[in-house]
Amino acid sequence: MGAQDSREISDQGKGPGHVAIIMDGNGRWAQARGKPRLFGHHAGAKRVREIVEACPDLGVKYLTIFAFSTENWKRTQAEVSGLMLLFRRYIQKEARDLFERGVRVRFIGDRIKLDSKLVDLMDELELMTSENDRVHLTIALNYGGRDEVARAARRLAHDVALGHILPQEVNEETLPKYLDTYVLPDPDLVIRTSGEARISNFLLWQSAYAEYEFIDTLWPDFSSEIFAGIINNFGKRTRRFGAVAI
Ligand code: FPP
Repeated sequence: MGAQDSREISDQGKGPGHVAIIMDGNGRWAQARGKPRLFGHHAGAKRVREIVEACPDLGVKYLTIFAFSTENWKRTQAEVSGLMLLFRRYIQKEARDLFERGVRVRFIGDRIKLDSKLVDLMDELELMTSENDRVHLTIALNYGGRDEVARAARRLAHDVALGHILPQEVNEETLPKYLDTYVLPDPDLVIRTSGEARISNFLLWQSAYAEYEFIDTLWPDFSSEIFAGIINNFGKRTRRFGAVAI
């Protein structure tokens, strides 16, 4: 393998075009201040704007954030409804600013369990920002990686039954077309805040070759400076995608 080939497979020095973030630690951040957990979620929501704004200068074209998982319904009724209200208010408050900053917003996850008022706001924001291309922000809401793959398999099975696709045509290229993320590139880097080193059902298929960064900072303390430091470190990594770099 020549030097040219090894550059192609290593990606060294290249920034992560797609960063996915598991925003964890809001509850502990609030509890450390003697406040209710929702106080931490509100502080966490404020951080989202700063991180989205930092993306263009850092060369991050795609940012995908985990806002609510399929498992998060197990939290108390008060926390779940507080979060749902926060998402609605967030969209209402931030829509214009996101639009004006050239952010294209998408939502992934199963909308079936979400309140119809929230789903309407999500649809409107997606439509309103659909021509934007500066940063692609994807918000995972009622999202679970296994649930996504199961939903994809169901739709795929349906298409097979209808004869739209043959069983022998189901492969690594065709299956992802049925995932919620079908228009997005795979994440290059997945960051999780708050010191937990697990991926909690986030982008399971898509992150097969992602780099991971687990940091102790709680999400409401995650600043654009910390983000820039992580992006900078990523450029020093050698990605081999299963091959051997020379
Ligand atoms: C995890 O912290 C965080 C969540 C389950 C919710 C994430 C939501 C936000 C950051 C707020 C808003 C986002 C948008 C897009 C408006 P945790 O509650 O698990 O914290 P803990 O582990 O300390 O308890």
